[in-house]
Amino acid sequence: MVCNLLQGKKGIIFGALNEKSIAWKVAEKAYQQGARFILSNAPAAVRFGEIDQLAKACKTEVLVADATSVKDLENVFSGTMEKFGGKIDFVLHSIGMSPNVRKGIPYDRINYDFYHKTLDISALSFHKMLQVARNIDAINDWGSVVALSYVAAQRTLYGYNDMADAKALLESIARSFGYICGRDKKIRINTISQSPTVTTAGSGVRGFDSLVDFTERMSPLGNATAEECADYCITLFSDLTRKVTMQNLFHDGGFSSMGMSMKAMHQYDKSFRPCD
Ligand SMILES: NC(=O)c1ccc[n+]([C@@H]2O[C@H](COP(=O)([O-])OP(=O)(O)OC[C@H]3O[C@@H](n4cnc5c(N)ncnc54)[C@H](O)[C@@H]3O)[C@@H](O)[C@H]2O)c1
Repeated sequence: MVCNLLQGKKGIIFGALNEKSIAWKVAEKAYQQGARFILSNAPAAVRFGEIDQLAKACKTEVLVADATSVKDLENVFSGTMEKFGGKIDFVLHSIGMSPNVRKGIPYDRINYDFYHKTLDISALSFHKMLQVARNIDAINDWGSVVALSYVAAQRTLYGYNDMADAKALLESIARSFGYICGRDKKIRINTISQSPTVTTAGSGVRGFDSLVDFTERMSPLGNATAEECADYCITLFSDLTRKVTMQNLFHDGGFSSMGMSMKAMHQYDKSFRPCD
């Protein structure tokens, strides 16, 4: 067990809703590794109250922000700097939501107001965070920013809908801002492309259980859990990955490099047997 990998580091973790959330696991592990951080989530999520338990366990506090609001984000970044008496070292963007997915509206009948919302919440919010942080010089040199993505940015997966477009945009923002922040401040910016994971956001995707089963059969190492994703985030916040930037890093047990596996073929064959 590695200890104190984040000793002395300070940060902000956006997106812990409940104990299934990837951000929740990241917060627990960051705390174990010696980091201090502020938690942030949208007003509705904070009203559920579960995040207060996490804040208590990690001896910290919650600053409320709708991640689509630049003003809210400014308050979170400046409030965090005030609390810690200076700049921070890491930021986790673990935010995603699509009203089209939530309401079961298919991609070819999309509601454009909802589409804007999907992109704003799930991707533009990342740009807003990075711009706010840059404007007030909130992140230390050699700091690290991570956002969570999904392979639907590169490959079409039934049911993922407009979130696929949001993830493609999110990954592009990581590269575009990664250049600027790397060049000027040695700050690294990456996305982690995570396996399907049973969380509130994940379970909202149509056919999610089948998707989880499919990717489990396809991935030589099996699906990555939320805890394993959190471990990977910790390495990216640590000083062990100082030259990793502008990358979309697959954390998916090998799924993204597979075409067909023995386990998936076995299952596929089964469904044809009765007709053979
Ligand atoms: N669960 C999966 O299968 C999976 C796979 C790959 C990537 N991801 C990504 O991981 C990230 C975290 O999702 P999760 O699976 O932990 O689910 P989750 O539902 O626990 O987290 C999503 C978070 O987004 C927050 N959020 C929504 N709208 C917001 C807004 N306007 N302002 C601020 N916060 C807002 C929610 O309150 C919630 O905390 C998302 O970006 C998601 O797309 C999830």
